[in-house]
Amino acid sequence: MFKKEIYKSRRKELLNRMGSGIILLIGNDESSINFPDNWYRFRQDSTFLYYVGINKPGMMACFDVDSGEEWLVGDDIDIDTIIWMGNQPNMKEMADSTSINGVMSPSECSEFLQKRLNSRELHILPPYRRGHRNRYKKLLQMGWEDLENKVSSELISAVAEQRNHKSEEEIAEMHRAANITGQMHLSAMQYARPGMKEAEVAGFINGIAVSGGGDLSFPIILTKNGQILHNHYHGNTLSEGDLLLVDCGAETDMGYAGDMTRTFPVSSSFSSRQKDIYEIVLAAENNSIDMLKPGVPYRDVHLTAGRIIAEGLKNLGLLNGDPDDIVQEGAHALFMPHGLGHMIGLDVHDMENLGEDVVGYTNDFLRSPQFGLKSLRLGRPLEEGFALTVEPGIYFIPELIRQWKVDNKHTQLINFDALESWYDFGGIRIEEDYLITANGAELLGEPVAKSVKDVEEIRKEVLA
Ligand code: GLY
Ligand code: MN
Repeated sequence: MFKKEIYKSRRKELLNRMGSGIILLIGNDESSINFPDNWYRFRQDSTFLYYVGINKPGMMACFDVDSGEEWLVGDDIDIDTIIWMGNQPNMKEMADSTSINGVMSPSECSEFLQKRLNSRELHILPPYRRGHRNRYKKLLQMGWEDLENKVSSELISAVAEQRNHKSEEEIAEMHRAANITGQMHLSAMQYARPGMKEAEVAGFINGIAVSGGGDLSFPIILTKNGQILHNHYHGNTLSEGDLLLVDCGAETDMGYAGDMTRTFPVSSSFSSRQKDIYEIVLAAENNSIDMLKPGVPYRDVHLTAGRIIAEGLKNLGLLNGDPDDIVQEGAHALFMPHGLGHMIGLDVHDMENLGEDVVGYTNDFLRSPQFGLKSLRLGRPLEEGFALTVEPGIYFIPELIRQWKVDNKHTQLINFDALESWYDFGGIRIEEDYLITANGAELLGEPVAKSVKDVEEIRKEVLA
């Protein structure tokens, strides 16, 4: 946990942002895998972690915005739990550790809410686990149809606005997460060999995340089929000539996430085709980084990356026409159907549970429905304190290319005949995490090899 004063001041700021009412924050509970007592790794709800910091299952927090009173809600553990799980701080001790004065059991909280909600409005965040709904229903003795109205856009906006701006202690944690993540990537580059299964490399770098004291920030994407954007299958054998795309991240024991991608040759060097595509993606990434500063809409950074990709693919004879027209029409999105990046923090896609648009767009800056742009999670003008990913890519997705060809989509701009020989290329993505500063941006974590020269140097050493 951070110092308890930090949680106190975060809550104070939240209560100041809200007009009045009662806020109920729900922490996560254990979640069963295949029988009740065999659980998935426990992961606390990120908003609960942010305002309360207690990393234990089955808790809630209740704040009265008008009176400023605060309660931690939960049950003290019983002797049966102590036998299996060891002794643990009681509710009062946990509340003290985060500077909360009041403690209530869930049944006391239920009674309290029945009374106070006669004259006051309840604010809750959108539930994203079935168990949240059940706990709300039990606590508030209401059906979900009534509870749905209590999901508070005011609370969502207040939380998103506050969590979008990273504080000094959060930035230190994010550097730590990025450094463990960087170590995972460097290790993958140093470990992968022709003849290995993807799973061997994935297992090795998973261990690095766990050794860092936390765990993965999302399931590892590690694949020679990089054209499948979120490919979690690790059953292929690596061969000379393959590209290996590794998109992974660690989260620290405090819950802060890293999210990086490297794509490297299984052989000791890139083929000339692989190098051509890699250099385009790298140019798009470096140019995007140069553009990062407060006031610049991330949508412009995304579109400029698209222009570099369009120009590069035009030079290779795969696109035709003016790169500006290609981007305007969205034809380049055949090769990069995803967005350039997203906010990152306590969640790898930060606060996606609150709604992507609340986090990454504003009322004056709305998401475009165009293919490609519609998958851009962050479009709004950047502000100091935002932490985000920059992750351009180029993919040859045979199913999508065939579909566009059959649909006669952008036939003037896309050279479908030339693409015939690229169907088995796969995909390349390069991703890093940045913090927006007063005048520009700062890389989170230490740099990890990404130029062709630096990546090949590592691969040559490994395979020598
Ligand atoms: N790293 C996976 C993603 O950003 O979706
Ligand atoms: Mn990402």
